[in-house]
Amino acid sequence: MRVDPSEEAERVHAAWRVLSPDDRDPAVSSEEVVRLIDLAGTSTGAAYGRSDVVEALHDREPAAVAVAADGTLAGVAVAQVAGADAHLLALALHPDWRHQGIGSALLRQLDQEIIHRGASRLVAVVRPGQVGEDAFANQGFTRTDGLHLYARDASMVPSELEVVERFGGHVPPDGLWESLLGFSTAKELLERRVVAPLGHTGLADQLGLRPPGAVLLFGPPGTGKTSFARAMASRLSWAFVELHPSLLGQGVAGARALRDALDELSRVDRLVCFIDEADEIASDRTGRPESQPLVNELLKAVPVFKDRPDRLMVMATNSIAAMDPALLRPGRFDLIIPVGPPDEAERTELAAAFVPAGDAAEVARRTDGFTPADFALVAQRSAQRAFDRALGGGVAEIGGEDVLAAVAETRASVNPVAAGQFATEAERFARR
Ligand SMILES: Nc1ncnc2c1ncn2[C@@H]1O[C@H](COP(=O)(O)OP(=O)(O)O)[C@@H](O)[C@H]1O
Ligand SMILES: [Mg+2]
Repeated sequence: MRVDPSEEAERVHAAWRVLSPDDRDPAVSSEEVVRLIDLAGTSTGAAYGRSDVVEALHDREPAAVAVAADGTLAGVAVAQVAGADAHLLALALHPDWRHQGIGSALLRQLDQEIIHRGASRLVAVVRPGQVGEDAFANQGFTRTDGLHLYARDASMVPSELEVVERFGGHVPPDGLWESLLGFSTAKELLERRVVAPLGHTGLADQLGLRPPGAVLLFGPPGTGKTSFARAMASRLSWAFVELHPSLLGQGVAGARALRDALDELSRVDRLVCFIDEADEIASDRTGRPESQPLVNELLKAVPVFKDRPDRLMVMATNSIAAMDPALLRPGRFDLIIPVGPPDEAERTELAAAFVPAGDAAEVARRTDGFTPADFALVAQRSAQRAFDRALGGGVAEIGGEDVLAAVAETRASVNPVAAGQFATEAERFARR
């Protein structure tokens, strides 16, 4: 092997030397390396952080260390091999040891190490003017201008993921919000009053608009309350955790379980916490003394929960009239939103999506009081009719008459009496 004379000169330099890999490991800890990077105020920084460096050292990725005659660190370079490339994670020089050729010597040492690991190129992303940049020019690196670095934080850090998963939660897939059909009043309201302000906190802040922290949805079963809650998390790319009243329990024990759960969840940012069938834990205390501790806990917990930004509490109930009135007073929920059965225009859209074989306008006319859940049922029943017919040798295709027959077989979830009651409750309880 040809020995570069300047390299030879540096190795025997009286004031500093680059350690061999064998000398390095016992002599230099990753804490010292990180301390030097902090002190030097520089690493390649633009693309990598300290934790990358620590991990690479731990994994024995290529590294080069220069020490002064007194044994203190003068400079470090750390890389990580990925296929044919090795990426420079850090190049840092002690402030007392700049302009001594140490940067160049470290890069040469790294060159030898990456060849041993099977890599053939060393790549560095640096900020313009960064300390040590001269070394790249001196060592024959080519520079590519005009690259842009794109970076985004992951939706959760590992400790948050651990809590979310313990509660059976997850970050819902993208696109749930868009998949909800119909520009229903509820969807439009939630979009404008909840999702948009939470998704554009900068603009909201600038105008002094306080995004909501707690929302109550109410309305008959099957109208989409649960779907809206999950879809809001999807739209925001936030985690979604559902607390089930039946798992919390009743009375004092239930109140404690609720407090503990919310306490743990306070460690997670960007979170939608959903409580379905909220009337079960928040029913009127006067009629049911056993619900007193839980209601009291909720009265305390909701304001605390929503005090922090980037969190949304969503509760849903089919029977808002059964909820404790104290919870419905201002200060707890920022918004109380009725989610009713779809009107004829929305039903036309639901019909076109759920039962495309039918005449959407005709189906919409015949489905007063049908909820999205009813449409899902009509779709199944239409398919079953076509299936039965096909098994008997007929055409394997859903027809308009299958759809109309299925509609006729299906009872509207929201009958006129329930619809009237909902309209009255919407009038009385809604806070938009
Ligand atoms: N706007 C909508 N568009 C399409 N499907 C919907 C919509 N709202 C609800 N659904 C569907 O209807 C069913 C009932 O909705 P759900 O959210 O469980 O209602 P709720 O919680 O009010 O009882 C679900 O299968 C859901 O996917
Ligand atoms: Mg529901």
